[in-house]
Amino acid sequence: MMYCKTEEQIDKMRASARLVSHTLAHIAAELRPGITTRSIDQHIATIIRDHAAIPSFLHYHGYPFHSCISVNDVVVHGFPSDRELQEKDVVSIDIGVILEGWHGDHAYTFVLGDPGPQTMQLIRITKESLYKGIEKCIAGNRVGDVSFAIQEHTEKKHGYGVVRELVGHGLGTSLHEDPQVPNYGKRGIGPKLKEGLVLAIEPMINLGKKEVFTDSDGWTVRTKDGSVSAHFEHDVCVRKNTAEILSDYAPIEEAERKNPNLFTAS
Ligand code: MF3
Ligand code: CO
Repeated sequence: MMYCKTEEQIDKMRASARLVSHTLAHIAAELRPGITTRSIDQHIATIIRDHAAIPSFLHYHGYPFHSCISVNDVVVHGFPSDRELQEKDVVSIDIGVILEGWHGDHAYTFVLGDPGPQTMQLIRITKESLYKGIEKCIAGNRVGDVSFAIQEHTEKKHGYGVVRELVGHGLGTSLHEDPQVPNYGKRGIGPKLKEGLVLAIEPMINLGKKEVFTDSDGWTVRTKDGSVSAHFEHDVCVRKNTAEILSDYAPIEEAERKNPNLFTAS
């Protein structure tokens, strides 16, 4: 079942998405070698609760933390731990909140120190592919148009591995609603996008091959070949002529630029 949202509901979802953006911006400012991913998770929990919101990942199908922090070959669903971040780590941070009953869920990949041109290109292209997909989130298009745009930019153009096992999704009063939005597929197929539909678009792209496996902890998804992986996610409202991005990377990118420990592509 796909649920189209009213303008009032979209306003609430925008607030929820922006709380995630705001939280990611706070975290971006404090990232440095030596910080543990557990302390980042604790800070995320504090920020979310200070805004009278609920961290939606905690206890979701038994997930034991407030955020997913996925380092290097971890694609998604990385557990925060006592591991200290190191120079050149590629760190994807994914956060979900519920604010007044509505979900926000988005992610950003940061780099501590220069990991080299190949990895930086992966990160830049993955982020670009997110916007290529978002451009297709207009009423009348089909899910396959979004999927195709992402796959075209990453796999076909650059030979990266597009993860098949995990997909983007509808978002609303539940974290995962219909439709599923794969990052691979054919133009013109799949469910038709309607005005007011809110989608979490989230390319998960590997520098090497597309194959992944889940660790013995039951959650941590890693690349099979050990290559680095990037993940960017935005919450997007389907509109008539242009998609509206409800989340906001601007404060995150500003914090990223200002933090001398973080390496940026541009
Ligand atoms: N952004 C991810 C998703 O949409 C994170 C969910 S993981 C869990 O599926 F922690 F909530 F389980
Ligand atoms: Co998501």
